[in-house]
Amino acid sequence: MSAEIIDGKGFAAGVRERVAEHVARLKADHGITPGLAVVLVGEDPASQVYVRNKGKQTVEAGMNSWEHRLDTGVSEAALLDLVARLNADPAVHGILVQLPLPDHINSEAVINAIAPEKDVDGFTLSNVGLLNTGQAAMVPCTPLGALMMLRDRLGDLSGQEAVVIGRSNIVGKPMAQLLLRENCTVTLAHSRTRDLPGVVRRADIVVAAVGRPRMVTGDWLKAGATVIDVGINRIAAPEKGEGKTRLVGDCDFDSCAEVAGAITPVPGGVGPMTIACLLANTVTACCRAND
Ligand code: GUN
Repeated sequence: MSAEIIDGKGFAAGVRERVAEHVARLKADHGITPGLAVVLVGEDPASQVYVRNKGKQTVEAGMNSWEHRLDTGVSEAALLDLVARLNADPAVHGILVQLPLPDHINSEAVINAIAPEKDVDGFTLSNVGLLNTGQAAMVPCTPLGALMMLRDRLGDLSGQEAVVIGRSNIVGKPMAQLLLRENCTVTLAHSRTRDLPGVVRRADIVVAAVGRPRMVTGDWLKAGATVIDVGINRIAAPEKGEGKTRLVGDCDFDSCAEVAGAITPVPGGVGPMTIACLLANTVTACCRAND
């Protein structure tokens, strides 16, 4: 193995530390405490874990945290009513509605009901438009975390060939926009891309966000490429015992690490950065609200 392993866990701890320092200054100098409200509908176990971690880390950073748990059967109108109340509450600087929502609820309608200045996920049409036109936007947390790690490793990204694999609204598209803003030459590849390995082999920077376990292998990479693996896939792990599972990324770590210059592991890579960036976005929202 030759690649440097990018320590997302350590990096995220550093971001959280800086957020906590900023929060302490806001409290001491201005008497303001940033606050994040998280809305969880239903009992999805993965969502419950995320929401619990978000709440815990928000409090650890010295911020106010509110959790609103609603039954799976809640009406769209009741959810919109809650969002409206959070929009109107001056103590709430950030609002996050955990996705996915149950099928009977129009997720787009709910997301777009969030006041754009409190949309710490960066999912509203307003923030998407601001990002895509190069204006000050709330930036989605996962691509923001990935960009921070790239900048830390590579410094100026100008002129780099970047290939983003996956065109989701949450990761792929905003990631491509962020890299474009950094003056990369960006290719947004996806499941219908012809000769995907050949496209990826051109890249100095590869961001994999397709949700296909270990799809990207070392022979797809240019030597020395920086690889950011956004995938979190649970696969069977019979070597750990019957019925056991483990997490893997969209990249085949061992073969990619032979060729890449640097790579994020799964777990412990991009994942921890997402919540750290959520906290940072909440502080940004609080500062803008009190400007
Ligand atoms: N579900 C999984 N990831 C996310 C995220 O980043 N934001 C929201 N709102 N829901 C999610």
